[in-house]
Amino acid sequence: MITVNRIGKHLGAEISGVDLSKPLADDTFAQVAKAFFDNEVAFFRHQKLTPEQQVAFTRRFGVLEQHVRKESRLKDHPEILIISNLLDENGNAIGSQDAGRFWHSDLSYKKEPSMLSALYSLEVPVKDGRVLGDTSFASTTAAYEALPAETKQRIDGLKNVHSYRFYRSKNIEAQKQEQARGGRVIQEHVLTDDQLKSVPDVETPIVRTHPVTKRKGLFVNEAHTSHIVGVSPEESERLLSELYAHVIKPEFVYTHHWQPGDLLMWDNAAVQHKATFDYDLPLRRLMHRTTVRGTAAV
Ligand code: SIN
Repeated sequence: MITVNRIGKHLGAEISGVDLSKPLADDTFAQVAKAFFDNEVAFFRHQKLTPEQQVAFTRRFGVLEQHVRKESRLKDHPEILIISNLLDENGNAIGSQDAGRFWHSDLSYKKEPSMLSALYSLEVPVKDGRVLGDTSFASTTAAYEALPAETKQRIDGLKNVHSYRFYRSKNIEAQKQEQARGGRVIQEHVLTDDQLKSVPDVETPIVRTHPVTKRKGLFVNEAHTSHIVGVSPEESERLLSELYAHVIKPEFVYTHHWQPGDLLMWDNAAVQHKATFDYDLPLRRLMHRTTVRGTAAV
């Protein structure tokens, strides 16, 4: 029997009574899946998972993605993206060092954006007894429902472009600015033309209907949305800024304070998330992420 404890006002729940290292019985899996979709973000504490076990558990939800940044995939487990600030013996990054710099939904730039992501924490930075490197999540469904009627009407039927290229240039610019301020030096892998071709821009509705819960949510994010289609650049900018500011109002946000052994899953069709870079080496952070393919946004 699983126990589900809701933490945030609109999202976020701890699920206990489950050992994810073992195959879950079908009825337990069904309870976990329901609790996950009901709460949009769900986490399990004190898990001890090998890469195989994480892959096996998340694969129950669907087909696993392999991230376009292949240098950051775990060797022998290409479905696992390493998210980490650690370096190997030659000083090379062993994972993606700046995933989640901006509010985003995973792989929203794909024709079939990711349904869910599962992040398993192996090492968590702690300074003076305080855990650093939180991840924040914002419910785009609760945010949509709370919009004024005239804004709902304004965005109804509008589309936006999600672009990996847009994200790359925005991220590289942010890295430069961070370094100029004396911040972290990020190792940036140059993507080949083939890698870039594999992620062409996509047009999706701003208001998306969730494929499972059928709730409507806002499918725009500051990392990947390059512009709104069919309006002037100024209007696109104005509307996007308004929507971004609305989604991350405190009442729609749950912030997770990590412990080693957490497996946390989020619903990419219902939430956006953002990492906090308030730590640096020698404080270590190491996470393994799996991502399940979803369906085209409608
Ligand atoms: C991500 O954006 O998937 C990573 C979030 C994190 O490392 O906190």
